[in-house]
Amino acid sequence: DVSQIEIYKQQVGKVAASLVTSGMIVGLGSGSTSACVVRALGKRWQEEGLRFIGVPTSVETAHLAQSFGIELATLGQCPELDLDIDGADEVTHQHYHLIKGLGGALLREKIVRYAAKKFVVVVDERKMVDQLGDHTPVPVEVTPFGWEATAKHLEKIGAKISIRLKKESKEFFLTDGANMILDCNFGLITEPAQLEKAINEIVGVMENGLFVHCTDEVLIAGHDGIQHLK
Ligand code: A5P
Repeated sequence: DVSQIEIYKQQVGKVAASLVTSGMIVGLGSGSTSACVVRALGKRWQEEGLRFIGVPTSVETAHLAQSFGIELATLGQCPELDLDIDGADEVTHQHYHLIKGLGGALLREKIVRYAAKKFVVVVDERKMVDQLGDHTPVPVEVTPFGWEATAKHLEKIGAKISIRLKKESKEFFLTDGANMILDCNFGLITEPAQLEKAINEIVGVMENGLFVHCTDEVLIAGHDGIQHLK
């Protein structure tokens, strides 16, 4: 149930926050699990005097971190991160491939991930799958100009598309970078590396939510406590 999941997120947030040491440059992910990491880091900042520099992956995360007084920087100021911690929507048991972006921050999340030496993913056990595409579409961030043409190209490579709308309105959802999201159902994904590449070759696509061969560690909260997979 919902409150149990909330407890899992808080537990995994606390363990992830314990990986940060003073002086580090740390990528701060987006979504509700990452928010638990940021809150746990905020607590350490205020109670233990932990000092690090955070690089946020969304405006929302930046605001949350700032509410604790956490120091933030851009990738221009801090181009190399020691560690990036972020959530995911699906994680494969093998290789820890990911679908990310149900929160809409995938482009910035991927840029920050590839600026970091190490990537740790924080999830609860519901997110673990054998194959990607199990219950989540692949979010594809596209530039609004000519998005209908971009969508046609995506359909040609097998996507069933649902245009992401704002909650409780018929307006298009827009990312922090003012792009649209097309949620693309490809069914079960057998070759995530090929699909990631094929999507990004389409003109108008900024990035997609497949993260392939790039996760170093996964922290999974569930009924057995926290599993730390490396
Ligand atoms: C944000 O764009 C996503 O990539 C999130 O990391 C993902 O949606 C996980 O969010 P929750 O922790 O809220 O499930």
